[in-house]
Amino acid sequence: MGQHAGYQNEIYLQGLADQVPIFTTDATRVEDIAREAMAPGPFGYVAGSAGSGDTARANRDAFAKWRIVPRMLSNATARDTSVTVLGTELPAPVLLAPVGVQSIVHPDGELATARAAAALGVPMVLSTAASHSLEEVAAANGTGPRWFQLYWPNEPEVCASLLDRAKKAGYTTLVVTLDTWTLAWRPTDLDQSYLPFLRAVGVANAFTDPAFLAGLEKSPEEDQAMAVLRWVGLFTGTDKSWDQLPFLREHWDGPIVLKGIQHSADARRAVDAGMDGIVVSNHGGRQVDGAIASLDALPEIVAAVGDRIEVLFDSGIRTGADVLKALALGAKAVLLGRPYVYGLALGGEAGVRHAVRSLLADFDLTLGLSGHRSPDELTPSALRYLP
Ligand SMILES: Cc1cc2nc3c(=O)[nH]c(=O)nc-3n(C[C@H](O)[C@H](O)[C@H](O)COP(=O)(O)O)c2cc1C
Repeated sequence: MGQHAGYQNEIYLQGLADQVPIFTTDATRVEDIAREAMAPGPFGYVAGSAGSGDTARANRDAFAKWRIVPRMLSNATARDTSVTVLGTELPAPVLLAPVGVQSIVHPDGELATARAAAALGVPMVLSTAASHSLEEVAAANGTGPRWFQLYWPNEPEVCASLLDRAKKAGYTTLVVTLDTWTLAWRPTDLDQSYLPFLRAVGVANAFTDPAFLAGLEKSPEEDQAMAVLRWVGLFTGTDKSWDQLPFLREHWDGPIVLKGIQHSADARRAVDAGMDGIVVSNHGGRQVDGAIASLDALPEIVAAVGDRIEVLFDSGIRTGADVLKALALGAKAVLLGRPYVYGLALGGEAGVRHAVRSLLADFDLTLGLSGHRSPDELTPSALRYLP
């Protein structure tokens, strides 16, 4: 058996005591359940995407165009789903994507996510826009593996300070998100005039940062509006270019990964800039409406740089089959976004655990039933393209 499939037995056995899982095991349906349970503002913030939602839909549709072609009698009873990515050991090729402002869906926010991730040994990627400070999240995460996601601030002093704190707090890999230097047109949030940052939610890392605080005349407690304005200015607009990446290298000792890559030319530039990895991602369809599905961008990027840089993937992962397809197309691991956030909303730490364990079990079983014993056996020949 694989390491994760046991969750299936656990669930069936709980049925003997008339217990069912705390919410559905089907991440393609959890959004409908969360809609009923969550306040409209937070639900819209999580579920919503850019513009018409075309790219978010395309992300899901792209998975359906690839079909798995199972192989039989391949001795896949015993499986090992573990992989090592940029020096981090993963129990399965899955990480928790950076998701900001998690306290809007549950008061424990990122702390609950950090505890659940640590319990499973699954790395979490903590957002710059977290609602708890990176030190508090590190304490909740304990010995669990953790990476830090950077929204690259416009002031080098603040950037260097955040990186220094993240290093000291045990975050090992830096994920630099490039696609969100301003928010896209997001009708779900606009229609509710809902933006949590303006209420000083999701700004904990800045509001605890000495370099950020040094630029304020009054403390955030004395003048919240000014502090929020400073925060918005720091993370809006981009004077960044490829030739500034050495600054990050100078201030970060570990691997650096660029998130938000969709074009093979940008992937090549990441290689040329000496980066260690990329995340092929369109931010879950939340940024450029009408953009290519992230899965549709993956094969070309893997062909261009797959042998020179670690290629990770996100946007649209819901099921074990989705993980398998992304891996077969050349991703080393995937990042899970909304499904674990709905888990957090519906059940706090236990909800995140259930969402992640469900995905890992589904992946483990699908891997075996399609005739594979480990992620490294997956190649494009496991799939057929049927548009
Ligand atoms: C509510 C929400 C907040 C997010 N916040 C961040 C963030 O702070 N930093 C970041 O790099 N990506 C952020 N993302 C994007 C995710 O990291 C990831 O790319 C995306 O959710 C993957 O798509 P999926 O939700 O379809 O799995 C956010 C996504 C959601 C849904």
